[in-house]
Amino acid sequence: MGSMMNSRSRPEAEVQFQSVKPPWHHSAMLRYCQCELISGRSMNFRILDDNSKEEVANLFTSVFSSSEGDQEGRLIGSLASALAARTDNQEIICIGAYADGAMIGAIFFTRLRFDEPIKAFMLAPVAVSTAHQGRGIGQALIRFGLEELKNRSTTLVVTYGDPAFYSKVGFRALSEDVIRAPLPLSMPEGWLGQPLSGEAIPIVKSRPACVQEFDDPAYW
Ligand SMILES: CC(C)(COP(=O)(O)OP(=O)(O)OC[C@H]1O[C@@H](n2cnc3c(N)ncnc32)[C@H](O)[C@@H]1OP(=O)(O)O)[C@@H](O)C(=O)NCCC(=O)NCCS
Repeated sequence: MGSMMNSRSRPEAEVQFQSVKPPWHHSAMLRYCQCELISGRSMNFRILDDNSKEEVANLFTSVFSSSEGDQEGRLIGSLASALAARTDNQEIICIGAYADGAMIGAIFFTRLRFDEPIKAFMLAPVAVSTAHQGRGIGQALIRFGLEELKNRSTTLVVTYGDPAFYSKVGFRALSEDVIRAPLPLSMPEGWLGQPLSGEAIPIVKSRPACVQEFDDPAYW
């Protein structure tokens, strides 16, 4: 893909499973995880390229089929498949979580383009394999992704989902009077955002453009 920051050119982030809870505000948090897997096993995060598309599509289909039913599993599976096939580590970033060489989680961040010079990404979708849910992996994966975006001078990250979950990783309700969603929202309370620059989120009147894969009312 010609990307300068693909998985081959970057070291993997090793995350040892530990029972200790280090301070999460520090970037060293990426070396730890509040997970309680079998002692001695390690998890690592990898920035993926399009070679992982089948593995990623299978993970999302299986996780969402288990949690939301077959229809939603197919819908999100096909979304993940389309995103994974166009993952370029610029407009579409995909990060995988691996334990013992197997993918146990994955997350996408896709570029949002505004009329104004704001570097913004949308987090969606994210999945942790059913057998590994509830052990802190989802939050660790999201935090790893946010740190990566911060290192790329991203100033804003938005998502559309359950505030109860995403508030655990820094997201807050986002009014469309501040930042509009790319398409009309069926559940405006799920529109969430967080600044990564340390400054307040700017007010932008026009709708941003999302990547083509999300340009479908079915997801909003
Ligand atoms: C949502 C998901 C990614 C979270 O990953 P995870 O590793 O299971 O979550 P963590 O262990 O890091 O965090 C667990 C916390 O999140 C909460 N949580 C998990 N899934 C949630 C959901 N769908 N809605 C609300 N809260 C949720 C748990 O209740 C738990 O809260 P607690 O610590 O107060 O008990 C994972 O459960 C998953 O893949 N679910 C199915 C797919 C999905 O719903 N994806 C999100 C929408 S794109």
